[in-house]
Amino acid sequence: MCGIVGYVGKKDSVEILLNSLAKLEYRGYDSAGIAVFDEGKIVVEKTKGRLADLGEKLEKTYRPKGTCGIGHTRWATHGEPSDINSHPHGNEKITVVHNGIIENYNKIKTFLVEKGYVFESETDTETVAKLLDYYYNGNPFETIVKVLKEIEGSYGLGIMFADFPEKIFAVRKDSPLIVGVGEGENFIASDVPAILKYTRNYYLIEQNEIVTLSKDEVVIQDIHGDIIKKELKVADWDEESAEKGGFEHFMLKEIHEQPTALKTTIMPRVLNGMPFLEECGITTDMLKLYNKIFIVACGTAMHAGMVGKYLIERIARVDVTVDIASEFRYRNPIISSKDLVILISQSGETADTKAVLRLAKEHRATTLSIVNVKGSSIARESDFVIYTHAGPEISVASTKAYTVQLSIMYLLTFQLAYARGKITEEECREYTRKLVELPDIITDVLEIKDKCQYAASKLVNADSLLYIGRGLDYALSMEGSLKLKEISYIHSESYAAGELKHGTISLVTEHMPVIAVATQDDLFEKTISNVKEVKARGAYVLMICKENADYDNDAVDFVIKIPAADNIFMPIITAVPLQFIAYYTSVLKGCDVDKPRNLAKSVTVE
Ligand code: M6R
Repeated sequence: MCGIVGYVGKKDSVEILLNSLAKLEYRGYDSAGIAVFDEGKIVVEKTKGRLADLGEKLEKTYRPKGTCGIGHTRWATHGEPSDINSHPHGNEKITVVHNGIIENYNKIKTFLVEKGYVFESETDTETVAKLLDYYYNGNPFETIVKVLKEIEGSYGLGIMFADFPEKIFAVRKDSPLIVGVGEGENFIASDVPAILKYTRNYYLIEQNEIVTLSKDEVVIQDIHGDIIKKELKVADWDEESAEKGGFEHFMLKEIHEQPTALKTTIMPRVLNGMPFLEECGITTDMLKLYNKIFIVACGTAMHAGMVGKYLIERIARVDVTVDIASEFRYRNPIISSKDLVILISQSGETADTKAVLRLAKEHRATTLSIVNVKGSSIARESDFVIYTHAGPEISVASTKAYTVQLSIMYLLTFQLAYARGKITEEECREYTRKLVELPDIITDVLEIKDKCQYAASKLVNADSLLYIGRGLDYALSMEGSLKLKEISYIHSESYAAGELKHGTISLVTEHMPVIAVATQDDLFEKTISNVKEVKARGAYVLMICKENADYDNDAVDFVIKIPAADNIFMPIITAVPLQFIAYYTSVLKGCDVDKPRNLAKSVTVE
């Protein structure tokens, strides 16, 4: 997730680009850059760091003068945050800013290198800039169409051609793009907040529509060159709510971003229908080696690890220990050089997780981190890193970071199981195919928010509640419980459903609602028995199960049904209603959803 902007008009473009980018820094802030037509030439200025660093650099070195330009604020995916990897990319003839991921960039790069192109950066974006250069025939539209036919993945692109000063070209697929329409000035941006200071009128650009922007005209064409007429929209948000994309809270926005976050995390790691982690250095041979696997993390990330343990043990048949980092580091764990230690962290800066990484290295174990923030300490210090591509997560309560962590757990499990001969190539393909379908299923699941809102209204007055489940449902219910307690301040615990009768069931009364997660076919009957036990003690029971589940209506008070997928994929689907339930409970209680008391997004102290 990055932010792109563009301006063409009569005013100082640098000031407008910087102001607009500031409104998109929530999309990433690893580096920033601009390209401006300065006396007919494209002048590029960029730097690692935040927008403020770019502003300082412009004051110290050179501040381009001109009324047309493009800009970028980066959330690094391919290549560390650095000056050279910052956008714009290109040369004096064609310059590009990009939001998204070019999945087949390696193939294109190989082709272009054979044609004599020399690459400077590690980014996927540079391949687009060079491919545009390769196909350029004096006609920007035709050149862009040729490039679109070659590139796969997601993109919002802003492009400048030196032969066409005072014009900006733009196109998108699976990454957002809008065109702001002003008086004698026009804009492109990844999101509406970027333009609100200047205009409230905008067009929403759809898949593969190509935009040509000059100060007095906006032309939108399909790839055949036909002009597309669009309804001009008028933004009625204030600037703050616009940053939340019109959602009331970042958490709600981030819940809705999950289909895209999953797609951008999964797709670059699937090649010819098989998991492909080689780009992260993880080879099939290496996965055959390890004796034991440790997964160590904190909070939500540890819960993703719990799901990972169930998956890896069930499918790849490797022994997995999951632990909380703050416990693991002090329990003198038995780790050897034959083991793999997996660290999961959204921020990549969590102090305890970082300490475990260092401990694992002291024991000469191989370390693999699953991290969202590019270039963070844990990512840099690990032997191997698989980045999740969730984009910045602003809300303290983790949502999209959790589901993308799960998606990596699936890919790793399948590759591990295949490497160790525990599944056939055909089975591996089938699992991978089902994983690739998940983002679309999640899009459908987002529709059940009203039911979850109703469920929240039944929980809001409780002082305490229980989440129960078995197997993968238990692993997931830990996350459901944490989500609820951290943002609604209602005490809750997650219990293995079969364990209740060994003590905890004495707490169950009509004042203790129970959320039963029951999505695993093989364990469903057993969980229903436990549901009946709590119902018999007066609990209000809310059950989440597959749409085709067969149960006794008297056993439950309210049911949320979700699409029936393969059992192993149910945690990622079921996470969504659990997130909604926590969210709406917090809203109904009037809590500060995005910034719950006593918590911080990144926990860099022990
Ligand atoms: O950045 P990390 O993933 O290492 O953070 C670990 C936990 O602090 C974090 O997952 C926390 O539990 C969540 N924000 C809760 O929603």
